[in-house]
This record gives sequence, structure tokens and C-alpha cells, in this order.
Amino acid sequence: MIPTQAEVKRIEEIRRLLQQASYAYYVLDAPIMEDTVYDRFYRELQELETQYPELITPDSPTQRVGERPATHFTSVRHNIPLYSLENAFNVEELQSWEQRWRRHLPSQYSPGDIEYVAELKIDGAALALTYENGVLTRGVSRGDGVMGEDITQNVRTIRSIPLRLNFDGLANIEKVEVRGEVFLPLDVFQQINEKRQKAGEQVFANPRNAAAGTLRQLDPRIVAQRQLDFFAYTLHITGLDDSSIANTQWEALELLQKMGFRVDANHKLCHTLEEVAEYYQYWDTERLNSAYMTDGVVVKLNSFRLQEQLGFTQKCPRWAIALKYAAEEAPTRVERITVNVGRTGALTPLAEMLPVQLAGTTVSRATLHNSDRITLLDIRIGDTVIVRKAGEIIPEVVRVIKELRPADTQPFIMPTHCPVCGQPVVRESGEAVTRCVNASCAAILKGEIEHWVSRDALDIKGVGEKLVHQLVDKGLVHSVGDLYDLTPEKLCALERMGQKSAEKLVSAIAKSKNKPWSRVLYGLGIRHVGSVNAQLLTEKFTTVEQLTAARQSDIEGVYGIGAEIAQSVYQWFRISANQTLISRLQAIGLQFISTEEPKAAGDINEKFAGKTFVVTGTLPTLKRDEAKALIQKAGGKVTDSVSKKTDFLVVGEDAGSKLEKAQALEITQLSEAQLLEMLKI
Ligand code: IVH
Repeated sequence: MIPTQAEVKRIEEIRRLLQQASYAYYVLDAPIMEDTVYDRFYRELQELETQYPELITPDSPTQRVGERPATHFTSVRHNIPLYSLENAFNVEELQSWEQRWRRHLPSQYSPGDIEYVAELKIDGAALALTYENGVLTRGVSRGDGVMGEDITQNVRTIRSIPLRLNFDGLANIEKVEVRGEVFLPLDVFQQINEKRQKAGEQVFANPRNAAAGTLRQLDPRIVAQRQLDFFAYTLHITGLDDSSIANTQWEALELLQKMGFRVDANHKLCHTLEEVAEYYQYWDTERLNSAYMTDGVVVKLNSFRLQEQLGFTQKCPRWAIALKYAAEEAPTRVERITVNVGRTGALTPLAEMLPVQLAGTTVSRATLHNSDRITLLDIRIGDTVIVRKAGEIIPEVVRVIKELRPADTQPFIMPTHCPVCGQPVVRESGEAVTRCVNASCAAILKGEIEHWVSRDALDIKGVGEKLVHQLVDKGLVHSVGDLYDLTPEKLCALERMGQKSAEKLVSAIAKSKNKPWSRVLYGLGIRHVGSVNAQLLTEKFTTVEQLTAARQSDIEGVYGIGAEIAQSVYQWFRISANQTLISRLQAIGLQFISTEEPKAAGDINEKFAGKTFVVTGTLPTLKRDEAKALIQKAGGKVTDSVSKKTDFLVVGEDAGSKLEKAQALEITQLSEAQLLEMLKI
């Protein structure tokens, strides 16, 4: 059906209205439309778009929530690397930063010439957004700063991120790259955790983990429910001759707001370091009243010209620094010391403490690392201790307040037998770790199975910690191989397990048989073999037989694999129980051969490098997402809309307006077969 002029206009009009209403609500915090009115317009738009799907644009308000969960995220190269910031923890360190950058500049700058912008350092997850001709085309997580994950679908669900920039007076900007921080407001974080606790799910340790974890959710519908928010803090514009629209960070922040972003309102223009220091001190206490977590202040030189002159060190800009607040510490009392047995058999002592508030979360357990550390700090049950939570690290006990020690306490002694299986433990000379070495210890087995099913390994959905414990405790599973013997009947005997869920689990387990050899190798849990090492090893040894036959020196010869790893891998394959396990898993049908030659990062197909692709219509064999992933993997770029910058349009059946536009712009079209042909190097 062909839409009438009036319908096309109506669609545009509703979109504009909804965009304005959303902006007022989510960015300005000043609603202009009743919810019911919004809903009515939204439904009308949805109906029109169902009628005329070719009129759907990526920036339509209906496109915020993706329909289908993704199977994986594609790793993509950042347009501009995401640098980190150097840290300072006090005003003296801030001053030495100033001396350092001054040394890099000609001496004509007197202190009075300099302006700083002080911003709050939002404790969330960094995100890079690309807008092409004003439309959001890509959202990429930080990753390692060079490569990140394409999480565009999830980013679209964040209401304070505009799908289309407000571009008044900026019509000739082609490409805009905006960076900022995704975060969860504290009240939302608390609600999510309360819900999770009620549902018996593991709670998030802090808002940052919750935000980062949510961004990595494969199902955008779940992301949409989590109410993530976003503050923008950097702006890069390309394709504009006159770059004078923003010459300073201060102006960039203003421009970002005009474009429709939320910018944290607490930034301040400072003319001296003393002013910066005041700002830092003021926010040290004031931040506790804030609706979101901050962990410091970011100080930036305001002038872009100065920023350019100073440039970057290996990893950080010289023109900015993170002035952090000291890790939060709090006193509490050790009530018990328990010993946890992990997947590798390592015994980790844990202090179980009176719950205490630390950096916005409640902490009741802290690691004591190992027995040496306990002896060194002389931590005893009943002691009042200082716990600290610093950055990424899980809480730890820093010291004991000996003055508050009750009478009759005893030093803690590491058990001589595994607290789970009762077998003697060993501590090898030169090692700090005490281990249980009983291969059939239930704790080790549980850890191994949890590792096998984990996301980066065989990624078996629905098999969580609780289920694993039940499976092992009920004797249903004695090794990862036993997972594949589970039947719905066997599973139904477990607590709170219905027929449907049981069937789903069995099929999820069976599906893991298709997972690639690299994941299987990672899943085996060989010491020092993380997912990156597993990838490196399986690229070299494309079958398990090759790896089994490899000499230690062959393994060490793999780029990126050091002596310690090589030794661990070599020894693992010498153990006969491990060989038995491999034979069994092979018989079950797991993959021990690389099916496809994986490409190393940077191994880019020339035909794709620097080229922009759009995929449209229904392809004969590939899903659109799969085609996009293949293109990206080969180094090409995929965007959602056709413009004169598009190099190729991959077309399937029932292609709509994109094909028309591509024809008008004389863009090269490719069939799926031609695309696959091009992908062969
Ligand atoms: S600017 C080139 N500004 O802190 C440097 N970063 O520790 C660009 N962060 O990766 C960063 N609030 O994720 C900047 N107002 C702010 C920030 C901020 C939080 C994060 C960001 C960065 C990390 C560095």
C-alpha cells in the first residue's frame, strides 16, 4: 500500500511531538505531555508504521526497543580511541599534574591565561556514540579503549540518548562522536536489587556493575526496563570546515545540551587550581546527597587549542586528570571467618562481618586473601576491622583496630582439611595459596560446572549457581559430561522445577554442543587459560589432538602465551582423567575442532576496510544481524541508513525505501552470494 501525503506528514508530526515530549521528560526533567496522551500518539504511530513499514526510520521513537535479543555482540574498532585518565588522589598530586603539562607548553602561558573545567566523575560505564547526519548509528562500549562492543540496540533504549540530534543551525555537520557515561540512578539501582533479591537472583554489587552488566544484556527489552541514564561529556565533530562552533570544553558541553543530551549540571569553570581544589573538597561531602554515584572530579583544560598542543601519553590525555576521592573505608566487626573453596581448589578465607555501608553498597563479607595475609594483619574473630572498597576490587580488610580487641581471642588457623570434602589440603612451597586437591571435591566440581556454563564458556542459559549446587548435591552430576545426560524427568525431581523449564534446560544444554572449540577449551578451566588465551591456542592448534600432542615449547611458541601458561596447559593434557573427560565430551558431540578460521583482531579484509555497508530486505540464508556481523568482522562498517557515504547496499527480498534511495544515489548493490564471495580473502 502506498501512504498518502497526509499520512506521511502525520507520521513525521507524531514523531516530532513524541521526541519533544521525551526530551522534556528524560533530559529536562520537565514533562510537557500527559502519559496517556503520549501513549495515544505512540500507538497511532505504531499503527501507521505497521501499515507502512518502509516508512520506519531508525530515529523513530518506536525504534527504541529492539524486537529480538541479539545472539552476541560484535567487537568493533572505536572511531577515536577511548583514552583513560590519569588519577590523582589529593591536591598535591593535582599540582604536580599542572607542572607536568606546563613543561609541555611554550612558556608564554602565564597562570592567569588558563581555564579549567571541573566536572564530576560519574561512576558508570563509558559509551561512545556515533551520529551520522544527525542520526544515531552506533553505540560502542569502552572495551579496551581501542576495540569495544557494538551495543547499539541497547543504547537505543536509553531515553536520555537522542536518536536524532537537535541540529538547529548545524546542518552541515556530517559526523558527530559523543562520549559520556551510562549510569544507574541510585534509587533505580536499589529498586532493581530489591526485585532481584525477592526473585532469589544475585544482587548487583554497586550501580556501576549494574550499569555495565545491563549494557551487556543481550535482550534489549530487559535493558529498556532497567532505566539507564546517560551524561554526555565529550564531543568530536568531523566534516565541518568551520570548527569554531566549539573551541572549548565549556562550549562543547553547551553544544551537547543544545543537541539534546543530558549534561551533568554541576560542572564549573575554574581559573585557578585553588578553585578546582575547592570544587573537589566541596563535592567530597556533597556527592553523598547526589542521586547518582560519583567517584571523583575530572579536571580538563578548557581550551581545545591547548588540548591539541598537549596531546596524549600512551593511554591518557595530558590535558585532563581524574581527581579521585580516597577509597571508602569503614569500621565493622568480624563475626566469623569462613573458608570458601573455589573451582581450582583454592581455599579463600572470608571475613563475615556486621553489614556496613561502603561506597553506596552494603558490605558484609570481605576477602582475607590467604593465610599469610591473615597472619600478617593478625585478624581474629571478634576483631573490629577497617574494610575498604577500592575501584574494581572486592572489599578487603585493611587493618585491625587492636585497641578494640575483646579478651580471649585466638589467632585464626587455616584448616588442614578441606571444609567441603574433608580431604587433607596442600600448600606448595613458595605458594601463598592452600588448595584442596581432591578431584571429586563437591566445591571444586560445582565451580567447574559453573565455569563450564558461564557466558564466555559454553554459555548455557538457565543453569545458575543454585541449580548447579542442587545438581551436584543430589548426585545428578559428577562431571561436566553428566550435564548432557540430564533429562527433563531427572530435572523435574529438583525443587521448583516444572516440566517446561526442565525441557528448556535440556535443550539449552544440548545447544552448547555447537559452541566453538575455543569456548570448549576455555570451559575446561585449565589454570591460566582465560578466554583470550583459549582463542590464541585454538587458532594455532585447530584440533584437540594437535594440542594434546604439542610439546611445551610448541605451546610457548604461540604468540601471547608465556611459559607459565604453556606449562599449565601441557601438564593438564598429561593427566589421564582429563583425557578421559575429553574423550567423553567428544563422544557427546562437543566441538574440538575449529570449524572456521577465526580472524585475529586487525586481520582485516582489504575490500571491507573503511567501507560502509547497509543491509536491507530478507536475505536467502543469513539473518540481517549475521550479515552485519560478518561485514564488521571483516573490517567494514555497517550503518542503518543509506546516504551518499554508503559504499554498498546488501539487498534481499522485499527491500523497501533503502533500495530506492540507493538506486537514486547509484550505490553498488550486492546480493548475499556476492557478499559471501567478497568475504573470502
Ligand atoms: S573525560 C580522554 N569526563 O572516567 C578522556 N570521563 O577514569 C575522556 N568519566 O573512561 C574522559 N565522568 O568513563 C571524562 N566527566 C567525565 C567523566 C569521565 C566519568 C569516566 C570515563 C573514563 C573514566 C576514566
